[in-house]
Amino acid sequence: MRQGDNKSAEEPIPHKRRGSIVEALALERKAEQNRELRERLMQLKKERNAIILAHYYQRDEIQEVADFRGDSFLLAQKAAQTDADVIVFCGVHFMGESAKILAPNKTVIIPDERAGCPMADMVNVDGLRKLKAQHPNATVVTYINSSAEIKAETDICCTSANALKVVNSVEGDEVIWVPDKNLGHYVQQNTDKKMIIWEGYCNTHDMLTVKDVEEMKAKYPNAQFVVHPECRPEVVELGDFVGSTTAIIKYCKESDCQEFIVGTEDGTGYQLRLDSPNKSFHFASKYLVCPNMKVNNLKKLVKCLETMQPQIYVPPHVADQARKSLERMLLVK
Ligand code: 13P
Ligand code: SF4
Repeated sequence: MRQGDNKSAEEPIPHKRRGSIVEALALERKAEQNRELRERLMQLKKERNAIILAHYYQRDEIQEVADFRGDSFLLAQKAAQTDADVIVFCGVHFMGESAKILAPNKTVIIPDERAGCPMADMVNVDGLRKLKAQHPNATVVTYINSSAEIKAETDICCTSANALKVVNSVEGDEVIWVPDKNLGHYVQQNTDKKMIIWEGYCNTHDMLTVKDVEEMKAKYPNAQFVVHPECRPEVVELGDFVGSTTAIIKYCKESDCQEFIVGTEDGTGYQLRLDSPNKSFHFASKYLVCPNMKVNNLKKLVKCLETMQPQIYVPPHVADQARKSLERMLLVK
């Protein structure tokens, strides 16, 4: 038989099938690369005596290899308590800064220094000083999503997990609250303190609208809506449960309900599905993705441990002032 006589052997693969074969090969290759990266990471972690902390909004491939996954509060606690020499902080810049402030003798590295937080950048030192001068008796309560310089101007920090407790814990009736207006509004609804609220917000959570949530409720009528207080007040109002990332995860795990519409960043899905594999989670909008959190990936994580760069640096005089406000927060029970 001459070459070419076997027609079926030479039949072209249909375009669609070729696409799926290429896709499958690419996935296989990616899985192989990730396996190699994970092996290298384990080796480096041991050599450097490093601990990997990952926020719930990180990519799955990072959350998978973390020593601790958590929200801003838990990760700040872990950074303050660790006896590792190196803290690899997978989150955004202010989180790495907080770790360095709380653990000044440790080396803190991050996978990509471009991972910032737009909300943290919405408040500046001059503006805050002006507000303090206008309200000299007010206590400054600052959301941890802020720079070290702002924390140095602060009486006490808080996270979304303890915001109300922190505000209620301060002496005096007046509070200057920076920078998240949405979380500030939520706290104001639940406290007798008078709050002077800065006009910042999280681009990701603030994007969720009432219309988005109503459409999802119509599509999934049996689902409960769980929402982060960084969302707009009118969206928070629709929540069957309102809470920080950790509180949402805990609520979904313990609830008898089997289906949830989730009003927070999409990375939270990793822990939600891990804790409750038989429940359904629908994110309330496809835009609930923080692009800053997603700048980090497994490859950059390995590279930063290899090169020990980029490192977080906070000038000691700023760190010393900022530490007081963070440590004061950690003492609130
Ligand atoms: P928590 O980690 O406190 O839930 O905050 C959410 C957030 O936006 C972190 O950047
Ligand atoms: Fe900042 Fe919002 Fe991203 Fe958190 S989710 S890092 S608050 S932009």
